[in-house]
Amino acid sequence: MNCVGGLVMDEAEFDKFAEEYRELSEQVLGISGEDAQFFAEYKIRDTAGLVRKFNLPDNLRVLDFGAGIGTSTPWLRQYLPNCELDCVDVSRKSLEIAEYRFPDMARYTHFDGATLPWPENSFDLVFSACVFHHIPPAERPRLLAELRRVLKPGGLFVSFEHNPKNFLTVRAVNACRFDENAILLSGQEFLSKLNAAELTNPHLRYRIFFPGFLRALRPLEKFMTWLPLGAQYYVWSVDDLFGQVVWCRRCGGQYFRL
Ligand SMILES: C[S@@+](CC[C@H](N)C(=O)[O-])C[C@H]1O[C@@H](n2cnc3c(N)ncnc32)[C@H](O)[C@@H]1O
Repeated sequence: MNCVGGLVMDEAEFDKFAEEYRELSEQVLGISGEDAQFFAEYKIRDTAGLVRKFNLPDNLRVLDFGAGIGTSTPWLRQYLPNCELDCVDVSRKSLEIAEYRFPDMARYTHFDGATLPWPENSFDLVFSACVFHHIPPAERPRLLAELRRVLKPGGLFVSFEHNPKNFLTVRAVNACRFDENAILLSGQEFLSKLNAAELTNPHLRYRIFFPGFLRALRPLEKFMTWLPLGAQYYVWSVDDLFGQVVWCRRCGGQYFRL
């Protein structure tokens, strides 16, 4: 147990599930008709799209916050091949497994749940996948401020979460052993937390509307990202470096000043 800001956090919660994490993920995500790799890949594909959209450097420094057993690691290497990747987690056992699986793909660092072991302005991209619902609500603002601290000016923050408004997602989470203490957060709730943490101009996109047997309809999903019914969603924010980003009120898009 670790006491952070007066709250007791079970540092080892995911140590208990590290060995069987892959198997449990496959079981629970299998309900959708897709496997865990499908879910891992789409997150990084979307994130890499934002990296390109905002012209982040090719050799960008990336932090995978709550990286677990390294589910996203090979996809980050594939979609952002020249990045420098740091994976951080409170579960030592998960990190050991990640390092065993992908020894040369990233640096793996344990985190005490309080202060990230990097100076401010260290990363161009801070990414997380399905981590915040495992963080007690009272702890979330402090950790977001900590992620904001290590993000460079002009950097990109992207975080994927399960959507509590999707009943199949809720059913899957309720059936999953490693989610027994999870407290899901809605996209709107996450957006307001980003604002409070000064992660500027946050955006929200819903994802994964069609189960595997309807995958032929997935090209339609790009028109549905506003609809709060997707199985998952992500929030993202790109720091407005010296007022260089122009926001289009009509289409919601962001453009750099020339
Ligand atoms: C559901 S797993 C997701 C792992 C990985 N991101 C993935 O997509 O497979 C949640 C992870 O968040 C980590 N975690 C929970 N609380 C955390 C915290 N306060 N700081 C960093 N990681 C945390 C857990 O140890 C676990 O590895």
